[in-house]
Amino acid sequence: MGPSNPGVARGGRCFIIDHQARPALYTMIAWASQPPRTASPAHAVANSATAAIADRRMPRPLYAQINLSALKANLARAREKAPGAQVLAVVKANAYGHGLTRVLPALEDADGLALVELDAAMALRDMHYTRRILLMEGFFEARDLDDIAQRRLAVVVHDEEQVRMLESASLSRPLEVFVKANTGMNRLGFPPGDLVRVCERLSGLASVAALRLMTHLARADEDDGVEEALRTFDTACRGLPYPRSIANSAGVMRYAEVGGDIVRPGIMLYGASPFAYDTAEMLGLRPVMTLRSRLIGIQDLQPHDSVGYGAAYTATRAHRIGVVACGYADGYPRHAPNGTPVMVCGRMTRLAGRVSMDLLTVDLSDIPEARVGSPVVLWGEGVPVDDVAAAAGTVGYELLCALASRVPVVVSDTGALDLEL
Ligand SMILES: Cc1ncc(COP(=O)(O)O)c(C=O)c1O
Repeated sequence: MGPSNPGVARGGRCFIIDHQARPALYTMIAWASQPPRTASPAHAVANSATAAIADRRMPRPLYAQINLSALKANLARAREKAPGAQVLAVVKANAYGHGLTRVLPALEDADGLALVELDAAMALRDMHYTRRILLMEGFFEARDLDDIAQRRLAVVVHDEEQVRMLESASLSRPLEVFVKANTGMNRLGFPPGDLVRVCERLSGLASVAALRLMTHLARADEDDGVEEALRTFDTACRGLPYPRSIANSAGVMRYAEVGGDIVRPGIMLYGASPFAYDTAEMLGLRPVMTLRSRLIGIQDLQPHDSVGYGAAYTATRAHRIGVVACGYADGYPRHAPNGTPVMVCGRMTRLAGRVSMDLLTVDLSDIPEARVGSPVVLWGEGVPVDDVAAAAGTVGYELLCALASRVPVVVSDTGALDLEL
């Protein structure tokens, strides 16, 4: 089988699927390979790996599939859980590693976007994104205020220094300002008792067009985590007639308690759970990123044989080990221990051996049909990223954000697909 009949795997060789056989997929590949309309590094679409995929080269049988229909469904879920609220989709860190410009078409139904990177926010405006864009850490230098004003970016103000910068600014147009209260996170935000005074100062400024009130909950994912913070926020906001923004994903999922006029869901949009015990599936969320690879080698182990650096796995019986083209330089966590879930040939198995830069190894004891070329899912469809993260002692956020730029990305907008490499 060769490029004249692409799309079919044999003996571990890889071809991108024929566009006549799978027109929808071809469209996706073309879409994914479009160059960004700006050169901003924060949200570059086409890395060289993605370009290689579009070019029908597959340097390694590893790619991340981004499912835009899942993202749309997750956004709809956020809306459903927060009826009547405006939804700002959180897209910081290059849309949690998914690629900001790549996911933008799936966020059409959001009332706006929220992020922390000024260059990415400016690039969104340059791409003619017209809805609200909120800079969640606000601004750091007075000299940036003009760019912010010209591009109609909304800003969080969480510190006296920012208030002083706004007092002495002379802007081409006034800003929408979200005044942030600290309700127990103790990172950014004014002491609750200062909120009224700060709002009074800001409301009189020529540089301020409109005020909103905001907080970020430290423990919205815990059963008893919101009540005290909400009480504090409510007291801080008393008498202030401005819309409020409170909920992140955990808050949105428990909206009845949290409320707020403008919600800021992040992780739920990407199909991972904000909670330790409720899975994404239980919350009605679908994974957006699926990291797929193939077996590129198989070893037969005898009892006492060990695998990989440091001999971190030693066989107690004879069995096969599969070698997967994915390692920590692709964003897979090096600290994932033996036992971390992996899917091979559609069946669950586990990591066996230390993750190295380009490779990881899996137990094939229960998968006799596995061959070189067999499909592997590292996380996503069938393997919740939260489960991989939990095994590795971290959270899904970190794994998604860490997808390496050398991993090709394929965008799908029709649901789950395997490229059949
Ligand atoms: C201020 C603020 N709001 C909302 C979010 C979104 O949080 P999550 O991804 O948990 O929904 C974040 C993310 O860290 C944030 O910093």
